[in-house]
Amino acid sequence: MKLYFLIAAAVVLLAQAAPQPQTQSQPVGFSHRIHAGLLKLPCKTCHTQPEAGGDMTLPEDALCLSCHKEETPVLAKLFAAVRAKQPLAWQRVDEVPSYVFWSHTPHLAAGATCEKCHGPVAAREVLTLEVSHRMADCIACHRANNADTDCSFCHEPRN
Ligand code: HEC
Ligand code: HEC
Ligand code: HEC
Ligand code: HEC
Ligand code: HEC
Repeated sequence: MKLYFLIAAAVVLLAQAAPQPQTQSQPVGFSHRIHAGLLKLPCKTCHTQPEAGGDMTLPEDALCLSCHKEETPVLAKLFAAVRAKQPLAWQRVDEVPSYVFWSHTPHLAAGATCEKCHGPVAAREVLTLEVSHRMADCIACHRANNADTDCSFCHEPRN
């Protein structure tokens, strides 16, 4: 009993002492700090917004291989994904519910920067939700920019 207690306490201590690994949730430890920061790749190299809905989209795995020719251990899952034609399952960071109308297009046209809504992405090793996309935040910015705030602007009209 006492031993069990000590082990349990040690496990708790270890769990507290371990630095929070920030990459655990992504299949490959992709870094925006390296790619967008140090290498200064424009966002649109990988987020090309071809979708009618105004989604920015995530890059295809094959795009990564245009630069990464050599299969190193950190890139093993990427190469395996391309070989198996099973796209890497990136964990989403920014996502609004499907009942909300959303498109990047009018926002970029209105001059909003990526950083305004996503934070300093190019400085980040791992992305987390730094800027909230709650309804109140959307509406506050719409008010400040004289954009519409009718319910039906962002939601299906109810009748
Ligand atoms: C325009 C070229 C380019 C593209 C496209 C690119 N990378 Fe990189 N990547 C680099 C360079 C240069 C480095 C830094 C040198 C290195 O570690 O290879 C790097 C570093 C990395 C590292 C760290 C490697 C290590 O050894 O720690 C990972 C992981 C990585 N990239 C994954 C990706 C993934 C996943 C994609 C696709 C979403 C991608 N890269 C797209 C050029 C690129
Ligand atoms: C070399 C390719 C590459 C470049 C360049 C790049 N990204 Fe990304 N981006 C990715 C990949 C891969 C993911 C998915 C993994 C992750 O979240 O880190 C991603 C995820 C994101 C996400 C989270 C989306 C979501 O909902 O999960 C945002 C926001 C984002 N990128 C913004 C940017 C911005 C802003 C820039 C330019 C400053 C940029 N990215 C440059 C490859 C890239
Ligand atoms: C006005 C705020 C706003 C601006 C400006 C903005 N984003 Fe987004 N972004 C969002 C929201 C909200 C989502 C979640 C959308 C969803 O769930 O479909 C998102 C999602 C994304 C995603 C995930 C894929 C997708 O489209 O759903 C990427 C990648 C991304 N943004 C990159 C960028 C880049 C790069 C820029 C600058 C060129 C940018 N964003 C500018 C608010 C913004
Ligand atoms: C940076 C300020 C800002 C933020 C944050 C913002 N918006 Fe907007 N939004 C605007 C502006 C400005 C317009 C353009 C209005 C116009 O063209 O008349 C716009 C337009 C729109 C449109 C019109 C789309 C179309 O096709 O015309 C929708 C829908 C929308 N926003 C939804 C949202 C949602 C949902 C959020 C939160 C997730 C959000 N917005 C966050 C400023 C913002
Ligand atoms: C500028 C865009 C925008 C406008 C205008 C807007 N909404 Fe929303 N709404 C959102 C977003 C984004 C979400 C999802 C995020 C959240 O729950 O905050 C949402 C969520 C909701 C939800 C679900 C909340 C929950 O907790 O599950 C309801 C209900 C709702 N909106 C009703 C309304 C009504 C009623 C109006 C008009 C008075 C309205 N919305 C106007 C963007 C908007």
